[in-house]
Amino acid sequence: MSCAFDPANIIVTGGCGFIGSNFVRHVVESHPGVCLTVLDKLTYAGSPESLAGLPEGRVRLVVGDVCDVELLERIVPGHDAIVHFAAESHNDNSIVDPDPFIRTNVEGTFRLLEVVRRHGLRYHHVSTDEVYGDLALDEPRRFRPEDPYRPSSPYSSTKASSDLLVRAWVRTYGICATISNCSNNYGPYQHVEKFIPRQVTNIICGVRPKLYGDGRNVRDWIHTEDHSRAVWDILTRGRQGETYLIGADGERSNLDVLQTILERMGRPLDAFDWVRDRPGHDRRYAIDPSKLREELGWKPIHTSFSEGIDRTITWYRDNEWWWRPMKAATEARYGRQGK
Ligand code: NAD
Ligand code: TYD
Repeated sequence: MSCAFDPANIIVTGGCGFIGSNFVRHVVESHPGVCLTVLDKLTYAGSPESLAGLPEGRVRLVVGDVCDVELLERIVPGHDAIVHFAAESHNDNSIVDPDPFIRTNVEGTFRLLEVVRRHGLRYHHVSTDEVYGDLALDEPRRFRPEDPYRPSSPYSSTKASSDLLVRAWVRTYGICATISNCSNNYGPYQHVEKFIPRQVTNIICGVRPKLYGDGRNVRDWIHTEDHSRAVWDILTRGRQGETYLIGADGERSNLDVLQTILERMGRPLDAFDWVRDRPGHDRRYAIDPSKLREELGWKPIHTSFSEGIDRTITWYRDNEWWWRPMKAATEARYGRQGK
């Protein structure tokens, strides 16, 4: 059944994080009739500065936890949809301490689904391709929506759990919800713990980039603005209960990505350190996005990875005020892990 609709007031959880803040910016710029309430706990990964410059009349920030039922009951009336980005999102952190991942990713989703059930809102669940596990480097197959879930890490297993809750709430209670599973995002406002911004900011700081394992692991990169456009299309035109995979045919090895960054920043291609591998490190992710393309007509607009990387490098060079305050603590955390 199609639940196509024209939202006017949306709650965006995790709207002070990387992908959530880019989504808020995209909606403000592309959909002038829409107001957004950002619900964000402002963990180490959330920066209210990521919403700087957005019109106060259209974007309101509520600082709070998605697990806080009383708060949800207070803010939900008057809204017609929730787009749920909030999560603990970093694999390395989930290996050191899975606890907040269970609470935010699993319990947080459960609390939101219950408020959606009580108030009859539309719900879109933002998830990851990592729920499908990994692929061998030479496997011709890519992930498809109906593939079985095979998560490897504490992070991806909590995301898989949350997706399964959504599917059960659709089937049992008939809530109007959609799910998207996207590949690795890059672009502005990404926390410096993640692969691309970590290496770019290391180079700016005069520190050598760090590559895990043998560097041959493959990720399927998509610009975060293309992710935002896909989420909007699914929210407004997606079929109820359906899962859409979002990817932009962007498979690259980590070594290739790092050497693109080194080359664009004028450094020798071997000016990096090999560091110990991540336990359980997924080998390869790859998305088959044909359902999204064929049903909803979505296609990526950022098709040149090197241009996207150039723009991302420029953003980090121009916005040191945004990332400098989090850099030292992030590297200290990695240092304790030998990475
Ligand atoms: P992020 O870590 O940059 O941001 C997460 C945001 O959620 C932060 O602002 C944080 O303060 C907030 N938050 C955390 N716990 C909260 C809680 N209990 N209540 C309210 N707010 C809370 O994450 P991201 O990279 O922007 O990822 C956003 C979503 O997209 C996640 O659900 C993630 O699983 C998914 N995803 C990410 C990628 C990627 O490449 N980063 C790819 C596919 C899917
Ligand atoms: P990451 O950005 O953590 O995303 P994910 O684990 O969700 O794919 O890492 C992307 C890839 O880069 C992953 O294969 C691990 C690798 N990696 C490094 O080689 N060095 C680093 O410093 C980091 C943070 C990641």
